[in-house]
Amino acid sequence: MDAIFERTSVRRFENRDVESEKIDAILHAGMAAPSGGNQCPWEFFVVKDPDTIRRLSGSSLYSGCANGAKVVIVACYRTEGIIYPELVAMDMSACVENMLIETQALGLGGVWLSIAPYEDRMRNVDNVIGTDDTLRPFALIPIGYPAMKRQAGDRFDKTRIHSI
Ligand SMILES: Cc1cc2nc3c(=O)[nH]c(=O)nc-3n(C[C@H](O)[C@H](O)[C@H](O)COP(=O)(O)O)c2cc1C
Repeated sequence: MDAIFERTSVRRFENRDVESEKIDAILHAGMAAPSGGNQCPWEFFVVKDPDTIRRLSGSSLYSGCANGAKVVIVACYRTEGIIYPELVAMDMSACVENMLIETQALGLGGVWLSIAPYEDRMRNVDNVIGTDDTLRPFALIPIGYPAMKRQAGDRFDKTRIHSI
């Protein structure tokens, strides 16, 4: 699948709106992810309000690039009704990766900005979007049309493969 190998993190975006069908497709991809016991812990905030995006971009030292994106998806997880809480971070990681690959496939760019498991970053996001302890922020995904394109490096390393 080309999008897997061509994906790179994109942190600078054109001043161009993202079509809502594309945002929908990205959310579909996220919710198509596998999860432990099919518990699907995810919930998403789709943020387009520039002032809210600006405030979210201050959630961590490493999230400044969100300011400038046309859309930021805040991927959150439920804490209630979860069967395997110990698997939630893995569920959410599969979900975020699916969204990043779909973003690439649609000609858009995005980047995974870590929020969980850092309690300070999680509280910062809570303070912006008003989540409480039943819904915790996991990651920010700024999305937009890339302002510059980078060639993806080849990380294949056959010494990492062990045959038995
Ligand atoms: C779990 C995780 C957390 C990350 N957190 C951040 C972050 O907070 N800020 C950021 O700019 N990039 C973040 N990234 C993006 C990585 O820096 C990036 O994926 C890595 O450097 C490889 O580059 P590539 O995505 O272009 O292949 C994160 C990626 C992952 C998978």
